[in-house]
Amino acid sequence: DTDFSGIKERTLVAVKPDGVQRRLIGEVIKRFEQRGFRLVGLKMLQASDKLLAQHYVSLQRKPFYSSLLYYMTSGPIVAMVWEGHNVVRSTRMLVGCTDPAEAAPGTIRGDFSVHVSRNVVHASDSVEGAEREISLWFHRSELIDWEGCDHKNIY
Ligand code: TYD
Repeated sequence: DTDFSGIKERTLVAVKPDGVQRRLIGEVIKRFEQRGFRLVGLKMLQASDKLLAQHYVSLQRKPFYSSLLYYMTSGPIVAMVWEGHNVVRSTRMLVGCTDPAEAAPGTIRGDFSVHVSRNVVHASDSVEGAEREISLWFHRSELIDWEGCDHKNIY
């Protein structure tokens, strides 16, 4: 029989300040919805230095770290949690390579960006990373488990 384990996998996706300022929120959401993933959390926020320091803890020694924090605090971010089968891996494919020059056309970064320092979206890079990041960006009460409601409505 078909193995549906991992169907409740979740990942963190964030439209970064450049994506919000370029009016790309809807475009990003559209791509995850049309793929069939389930949105279980969504909010707009001005990220604090403290949150970003925790989020990017592994990058603290990188030469681009301070400009990354400057960019990520330059305006509101739209953070979301998407759920579904292999959503972490599929999301990285949808988003494309970190450097837009390497990102394939058809991916979000490959379609909308030209420079690594303004690459429009964030996506968790592993299941463990996703769990860590989701707990940083969202309180448990902000995540809605609505799988059981799915497909029951006629629309
Ligand atoms: P990273 O975690 O390596 O990539 P990803 O976002 O694809 O998981 O890097 C985090 C962010 O840091 C990246 O999205 C953009 C920024 N960044 C730079 O500004 N310059 C760089 O050279 C790199 C590698 C990343």
